Amino acid sequence: MKVDVLLGLQWGDEGKGKIVDVLTPKYEIVARFQGGPNAGHTIEFDGNKFVLHTIPSGIFNQKTINVIGNGVIIDPCIFVKELNNLAKHQIETRNHLYISKKAHLILPTHRLLDATYEQSKGELKIGSTLKGIGPTYTDKVARNGLRIGDIIANDFKSKYLKLKKKHLEILEFYKFDVSNYKLDGILFDEYEAQWFAALDVIKEFKLIDSEYFINNALKEGKSVLAEGAQGSLLDIDFGSYPFVTSSNTITAGVCSGLGISPKNVGKVYGIFKAYCTRVGSGSFPTELDDEIGQKLREIGNEYGSTTGRPRRCGWLDIPALKYAIMLDGVDELLMMKADVLSPFDKIKVCTSYTIEGKNTQEIPFNTENTDLKANYEEVDGWNADLTKLSKIEDAPKKLIDYVKFIEKLVEVPVSVVSVGPDRTQTLFRE
Ligand code: GDP
Ligand code: IMO
Ligand code: MG
Repeated sequence: MKVDVLLGLQWGDEGKGKIVDVLTPKYEIVARFQGGPNAGHTIEFDGNKFVLHTIPSGIFNQKTINVIGNGVIIDPCIFVKELNNLAKHQIETRNHLYISKKAHLILPTHRLLDATYEQSKGELKIGSTLKGIGPTYTDKVARNGLRIGDIIANDFKSKYLKLKKKHLEILEFYKFDVSNYKLDGILFDEYEAQWFAALDVIKEFKLIDSEYFINNALKEGKSVLAEGAQGSLLDIDFGSYPFVTSSNTITAGVCSGLGISPKNVGKVYGIFKAYCTRVGSGSFPTELDDEIGQKLREIGNEYGSTTGRPRRCGWLDIPALKYAIMLDGVDELLMMKADVLSPFDKIKVCTSYTIEGKNTQEIPFNTENTDLKANYEEVDGWNADLTKLSKIEDAPKKLIDYVKFIEKLVEVPVSVVSVGPDRTQTLFRE
């Protein structure tokens, strides 16, 4: 067997959580391979809504093993909050959630560093989620990091204090007031105590060598789905640098984030919204700063699942979508939030850019300070409520025309059209 992959093709929040949950019954294992609690994956069913940050979205199926892979970074406090919320809804986790010993830990001071670095960047700030993502991956690459496997060792506390000291020295340089800064409304010392208490909860879970676990599972013929976080346009190498996250969000990240060979990558599902959103700073060629953008935000409820920030909204960007499809090797597309476009008589799609007077479909090296204009084609809207549809055959012709229009431009089939946040609001195409 090979590892199938589901990842976002835009700037995140495409609806990955919903679709992983929908696909989970087909998989024996669901694994996160990168990112951390900067992710906010929403799942809705039976009138309940869950937002997961660290825990894979396969957790609602008791028969599926969920793995937090080595490429993920974990904030114990946030992880425990997620667990507690699931427990409140009688969702069992301990029997079917495993954590890689090689996953790195987000320390409380990583979060302070994230805040400091953002502050020091002024107008050029990334718009980070302030979850400590950049500093934690920085320490991983700089070979300073602490990993889940370290927490059971006797010298963990001294390793922790050594790294904390290093962080405090940097914070002092930036004149950061550690003792008065609140993390999730809590002063540092208390937050740190909660962090250590949360480590004890993590110790109750099965801590695994996830690379062996996944590869053995593949040998035994088990089905595995890798769940992406963020989106391809936030990738550390290929996103609109420096306004990106700090991990490889593209398919290649699955190999290093789970320890599988590229030969073992199976089907790649690419998920995109029928329009575009972005939260945080960075270029956004099709952004709508007008009442249309506002309408998309209100109808699509485009407010961050992790930070609550309003998401920037704009029309679908085909050159950007094609770029992500190329980087990810997408086999099948899943188009989300089609229902959000229902009230629009006309829908625009960006099919090329004009950069310094030249027409192109390629993403330039520098998307930030370039004279880039998005060129649009306009198609008819369908002006019909999609949210009650249960099969694609009942969908309005104009919606199918929109899907076919996209398929023709990107040359990859769209196998799913999503028409609402609930599990059941999912239409499958042949
Ligand atoms: P993720 O990070 O990719 O998992 O996406 P988020 O959960 O951050 O954001 C997607 C939002 O859209 C969530 O609030 C979902 O409940 C919602 N959603 C997902 N699919 C659809 C859909 O087809 N229509 C509508 N209206 N909302 C959807
Ligand atoms: P999911 O998995 C949308 C954005 C932040 C910021 C940039 C860097 O829910 O799709 P970071 O905290 O990673 O250093 O922030 O990346 N960002 C996301 N935007 N969805 C996400 O995750 C995101 N994770 C990070 O807004 O612009
Ligand atoms: Mg999200």
